Amino acid sequence: MTDARRPLIAGNWKMNGSATFATELAQGVSVGAPGVLAELLVCPPSVLIPTVAAALNEGVALGGQDCHAAESGAHTGENSAEMLKDAGCGYVIVGHSERRTDHGETNEHVCAKAEAAHRAGLCAVICIGETDADRDTGKTLDVISAQLAGSVPAASNAANMVIAYEPVWAIGTGRTPTNDDVQEVHAHIRAVVKASRGDAAAAGVRLLYGGSMKPENAEGLLALADVDGGLIGGASLKAADFLAIAASCP
Ligand code: PGA
Repeated sequence: MTDARRPLIAGNWKMNGSATFATELAQGVSVGAPGVLAELLVCPPSVLIPTVAAALNEGVALGGQDCHAAESGAHTGENSAEMLKDAGCGYVIVGHSERRTDHGETNEHVCAKAEAAHRAGLCAVICIGETDADRDTGKTLDVISAQLAGSVPAASNAANMVIAYEPVWAIGTGRTPTNDDVQEVHAHIRAVVKASRGDAAAAGVRLLYGGSMKPENAEGLLALADVDGGLIGGASLKAADFLAIAASCP
């Protein structure tokens, strides 16, 4: 972390909660927000976004978990980036591995969704990460490079994109890479951004680690030079745990 990049602690609530649960969680996060230096972001299920928007205070950002690439039209069940913006979101997660796996999303789909986020004035949280087979066969950095080349729109910069490195095998499993392995991948991501988009983008873009981040392991991960925050799944469903992770930022 450097002073230039304010840490971002993002909660991906996934398909969890009810209106009551979401209200209580949003209020709990809001109460603790003034005590942490990191920027806080919560990403509830889309149906709960208005509920959470009403319960959050202004110090906590709101995001969607996915968006469609189109602005509007005949796409049953989908939400556009413009709709998320209209509902009060400033961010949208795109390319989460659960979307890539469950919905067959390719790098091209993810790139189109990130472009839609930019069109709507949202910051895209673009997720990438290797499988355990990739890691076991030494392909991690190649996979990361290919995902960056395919998923990141040309017009991305430090203001409209955050990149989340989430090893697929670490999500929801309680397993994490070593801190050295995380730093190696994050340094690689920053080097790729530098080569493709220049010094300012590389110096300013925030790189999040995600995958079984908890209060117990957050301090070591968030202290790494090229880790600028976290994308938190399970531990974001308890305000105390989410805030404890945020308080671990250096
Ligand atoms: P986890 O999920 O923290 O539950 O591992 C992280 C994510 O999928 O974003």
